[in-house]
Amino acid sequence: MKKVFAVLCISAVISACGGGTKTGTADSTNAANQTAKQSESSADTNVNKTGNEPSGATSPGAKLLAANDCLTCHKVDVKVIGPAYQDVAAKYPATEANIDTLANKVIRGGKGNWGDVPMTAHPTISQSDAKEMVKYVLSLKK
Ligand code: HEC
Repeated sequence: MKKVFAVLCISAVISACGGGTKTGTADSTNAANQTAKQSESSADTNVNKTGNEPSGATSPGAKLLAANDCLTCHKVDVKVIGPAYQDVAAKYPATEANIDTLANKVIRGGKGNWGDVPMTAHPTISQSDAKEMVKYVLSLKK
């Protein structure tokens, strides 16, 4: 009898933790996306995590992406609100000029290259941080 009670306690704690991290991470859109994703398949969330980590563990660009709101609208391999980063990488060679242009776009926001949905402006991100993020994005080419 005691054992059963212990098991119940443990599973209650686990589900409480799970719920906490999901809703605690970000704004409501992001939380909604994540919940939707997680109920679709948990493998999917793993893909996203590992997608960020191999080069991401050491890449400052990957850390900045995660620290900003980028992943609310972008995933590495699927279009969400913005284009998949792999598609962005396929479209632009990682030249200094492209990195500059795209970094400015991240800071100022805008639309037109992928459709009519605009990217929000990120005026608080510095030019050098934006460039780090864009360099990382362009390194994600399939
Ligand atoms: C509100 C959703 C949203 C957020 C947040 C967001 N993006 Fe975007 N992003 C978009 C959309 C939509 C586009 C496509 C714009 C277009 O059609 O030109 C886009 C396009 C891009 C492009 C390609 C631009 C081009 O002209 O081809 C890059 C690079 C990019 N985003 C990086 C980022 C980075 C880095 C961040 C975080 C600082 C970020 N995005 C945050 C929605 C978002």
